[in-house]
Parts: sequence; C-alpha cells; structure tokens
Amino acid sequence: MSVETAAVSGERERLLKAFRSGRGATDALAAEASEALRRSWPDNMPIDEVARDELLGELLRSFSVFPVWLERAMTHRRLALLFSNPRPVLEPLAAALAIQCHLNEYAWNEDPAETERVDSLAANLETLTPFEVMVLACYRPLGRLEGAEVLLTRGWDGPVRQVLDEQIVTVREEAAIAAALPALTPVRSESSQAVQAQYEANPYPRWRRPGLASVRTHIHGRTLPPGMMVLIAGCGTGRQAIQSAMMFPGSHTLAVDLSRTSLAYASRKTRELGLNHRIVYAQADLMEMQADAQFDMVQSAGVLHHFADPFEGARRVCRMLKPGGLLALGLYSARARAHLGPAKALAKTYTPQTVRALRQAIINLPENDPARRSVVASRDFYSTSGCRDLIMHVQEHQLTIPDLRRMLDENDLTFLGFIQFEFEDIRKAYVAKFPHDPTGRDLDAWEAYEAERPGTFGRMYQFWAEKRA
Ligand SMILES: C[S@@+](CC[C@H](N)C(=O)[O-])C[C@H]1O[C@@H](n2cnc3c(N)ncnc32)[C@H](O)[C@@H]1O
Repeated sequence: MSVETAAVSGERERLLKAFRSGRGATDALAAEASEALRRSWPDNMPIDEVARDELLGELLRSFSVFPVWLERAMTHRRLALLFSNPRPVLEPLAAALAIQCHLNEYAWNEDPAETERVDSLAANLETLTPFEVMVLACYRPLGRLEGAEVLLTRGWDGPVRQVLDEQIVTVREEAAIAAALPALTPVRSESSQAVQAQYEANPYPRWRRPGLASVRTHIHGRTLPPGMMVLIAGCGTGRQAIQSAMMFPGSHTLAVDLSRTSLAYASRKTRELGLNHRIVYAQADLMEMQADAQFDMVQSAGVLHHFADPFEGARRVCRMLKPGGLLALGLYSARARAHLGPAKALAKTYTPQTVRALRQAIINLPENDPARRSVVASRDFYSTSGCRDLIMHVQEHQLTIPDLRRMLDENDLTFLGFIQFEFEDIRKAYVAKFPHDPTGRDLDAWEAYEAERPGTFGRMYQFWAEKRA
C-alpha cells in the first residue's frame, strides 16, 4: 500500500469511527467525509464499489449531501439503480439513498425517463419487490402514496424495513403527535400565518443526527441556576432544544414554534434520544405568548428576523426573561447575506413547488456566476426546506450591528459577546486589530471588523446577553 493510500484509508477509518460513535456528528464531519470520498474515488467508480462504501452509507443516512459534485454523483447512481436488475450488493445503497432523498426532500434533478418509470412503480405498489420499493422511495415519499400501508403488511426485514420505518411508520407517528400537541396561543396575524405556512410545508432544519454538545455550567462567567427554566423561542425541528438540553443537564425546557409539523418531528426525535422528560413542546405564536419573567434563559436562533417587526418581536421575547436571565440570539447579518442578492432575485421567478427546478437552474449556471457561487457554498442549498429558507423566504429582515445595539438598549440587555469570538481565528484577528478590547464586547469595534470582513457572521450574528436585574 502506498503511503498516500494508507493515509487516505486511515482518514476514512477515523471518519467512520466518528460517525458510528455518534460523537461529533457535525456539519464539519459531513464536510470532511465528502472530501474523503472525493479523494478516494476514481472517476466513474463502479456502482458496486459505491454501494460497498461504508463511509458514503453513513453520510447518506446522516446529512443532506453536498457539495454539487457529490449530489451529481449520487443523482447518477440513483438513476442507475432505477434501471438496474436487483442484486443484493446494491440493497444498502438503495436504502441509504432512499433515506437521503427523504431527508433532502427530493431536491435532486429527475429527468422525464425517470419520472415515467417512477410513476409506473408508484401505480403498482401491490406488486413491487423490496428492491423496487427502496428505489421508488428514492424518488417519492412512500408515506404520501395512496395504499402505502400495504407495504407494512409484507413482513419484510433488512434494508427495506429501515426505509419503511423511516418513510411510513415515523411519518404516521409524527402525524399523531402533531394532532395532539398543545397550542398555547392562537396564530392570528397574517404575517405569522404566512411564516407558519412555509414551515408547515418545509420544516427546518432537516436533520437526522443532533451532534453532541459539551456540558456548560457557566456562560460568560455567570453560574447557571440549578433546575434552570429554558425557553427555546422558535425551536423548529428541535435540534437546538435537544442540544441545549445536552449542554445544560439540569435544565427544563419549553420549546415553542408556529409549525406543528416541525414540532412533531422535534418531539419524536426527543423521545428517540430519551430526553422527553426534559423538553416540553407546544405550538405558540411568540407575538401572543404571555409568560412574563418566567425563564432563566431564552434562546432564539434564526427566528426574530422572520417577524413582521423584529424589534417588536425582540420586546415580546425578552420580556419572558427573568431579571438577571440570559438570552442567546441568532439574527441575520445584512452584510454577510448581501452576496445572496442575485440568487434571491432569480428565486423570485420560481415557487415553493418548483424549488427543484430552481436548484437545477442555479447548479447549471457558470461556476463563477454570482447567483451560483454565493449559494452552492451553503449547506442549506442541499435540501428543499433549506433552499427555501436560504433564498425564498416569505418574510425576512436583515440586521446590522447598530440594530443589535438598539435591541439591546430597548430591552435592558447587557451584551456578553458573540459566539463567533470563541473561534480562534476570529478571536485572534479581532484582538490583534482591537487590543483595547480583549473580551470582544465593543460593538463599535465589531462594526468596523465586520465592514472589513463581511463574511464574519455568515451564519448569523449569534450572541449572549444578560437582562439587567
Ligand atoms: C429558521 S427556523 C429556526 C429553527 C431553530 N431555532 C433552529 O435554529 O434550528 C425559524 C423557526 O421560527 C419559527 N417562528 C417564526 N416566527 C415565529 C413566531 N412568531 N412564533 C413562533 N415561532 C416562530 C418558524 O416556525 C421556524 O420553525
């Protein structure tokens, strides 16, 4: 074995272990795994070899795959499966692709010959073999096909069973959970209803593995009270609430959202992870919630910028914090998102029903086209919900550091620091430029820093603040 081959296989072993241990199931792991596949696959890797690749299998079952080259490679292998004779060696790939496509909500390109074959499989559910069911599930969500229950009566085991569980059994469970969820408030305003409709159709974020969070007993030197009450304001599909429960082991959490489908996914995954005694989910419009000064900590990531008025939203959310309580906010940065403008302009000519076509139009643009370059680098681009969230949101505001200052002032909040300051490269660069501020709390300095490095808050402005007692 050459030194290079040994290094590649050592790297793959390390990544496989990381997936299987459940530790570090993060976006960074997904990026490393995609890169390891790129380095180790020859051009035109035969499909049998692809099907035997365990690292690929783990990746397909865990994250929406990216970047474009891997999506294309998988789209081609899916087409090959659709027109292949069934062979046992292909079954794990068919199952993993079915789970992947359900996870990314069938975002990949489909040509007319595929559509014709898939429609014919869907019209003959009664007669399908397990392999054909898995292949069909790579193109259509089984749970939405009429008569799909019949597949559960077959007593099939092995890879197809995992696909039936994922696409029919858990989807039914979620529908039952959604129907039984408590509603703490009505959803009355037109603006909340429009946002709700988007997330009912496309719950966000799409995830299967929560990743692990390290336990914290302090935030910026503040000791966290035992039995702390946490509000997750706009919890989406629950990953944030689950990570928070892992991070703060003594805490109790109320997690609310407008979208019942998101909450149902969150609740099912929370049970699966054994955290249901620590997190209560409920539907609520944060604009209507009455829970003044009840929480020791409020976390709201990626939510307030979708309100009709984010400042009014901040007032509603902040008044639920106890004096001395801690707030974690995540808000879009206008500077960091300016580069999405061309893609958003293109997206205006598409609808929520044509996200797949929009994605293809973007992928097919020249590599350097500003409407392509800006979005294919984002993980959100690789699922239907993520793509809608990224470039075709029904209501979105973008903020600046002076806006953050206004929010802090209006709500009696002391700024404790950006989460980005915990990243070594950012901290070093910031402190080198602003040695007068070694703790990273000077918002004027941050404004100057961001002007020079507009990508700093690419995910969002994410920061902790404290409600003054
Ligand atoms: C981008 S997602 C973020 C989800 C989650 N915080 C996370 O980071 O994973 C935004 C969520 O905010 C919820 N949301 C928006 N406006 C809301 C409101 N007025 N009341 C409650 N939830 C709201 C949406 O339904 C959606 O699930």
